[in-house]
Amino acid sequence: MAIKVAAIIGSVREGSMNLRLVEFMKERYADRLDIEAVTINNIPLFNPDIEENVPQEVVEFRNKVKSADAVLFAVPEYNYSIPGSLKNAIDWLSRGGFVLREKPAFIVGSSMGVLGSVRAQIHLREVLSNPSLSPMLLPGNEVYIGSVHEKMNENNEITDSGTLGFLDQVVDNFVAFYNKMA
Ligand code: FNR
Repeated sequence: MAIKVAAIIGSVREGSMNLRLVEFMKERYADRLDIEAVTINNIPLFNPDIEENVPQEVVEFRNKVKSADAVLFAVPEYNYSIPGSLKNAIDWLSRGGFVLREKPAFIVGSSMGVLGSVRAQIHLREVLSNPSLSPMLLPGNEVYIGSVHEKMNENNEITDSGTLGFLDQVVDNFVAFYNKMA
């Protein structure tokens, strides 16, 4: 049976390359991964004052993560870090049940620049290492897709064979990692 994956889209932009990448992965790896793109567009700002009465959007977001077998983070880079909207969503996941703890997870990231979100992913890994978050991140596999607009066509297909082969290998590695953890 396919692994149910909540793919958290780190960009709120309609034409997001990271969203398009996840849509591509959903199709390409459907035999092994049942990917749902989870958007964070409507998540209110985290505020401890409203934790007793958590907004419905946050309840639904947490439930999507909780009910998934695994999590995929699709990460853009803003100013050498993750977008504030993604940090905000992750802050909500650090409270109210610790839904990320020990959840198998992996990270992909793309940008139109050459480095493909490398600095953002370094920050993301640091944030996720907090004990209140602590997913089980696939070790030794880092996906940075730079110049993504030159590697994906209008049908959201990755056309660059090197990138495609690498992504296939990372997904194979994640499935093996997941099965070992299960
Ligand atoms: C960016 N972008 C960017 N890219 C990068 O490689 N390093 C960076 O520090 C930044 N900083 C940055 C700040 C702001 C405010 C914007 C709007 C953009 C480019 C960004 O990564 C690129 O537009 C991605 O395509 C965004 O991801 P989505 O929305 O396409 O998924």
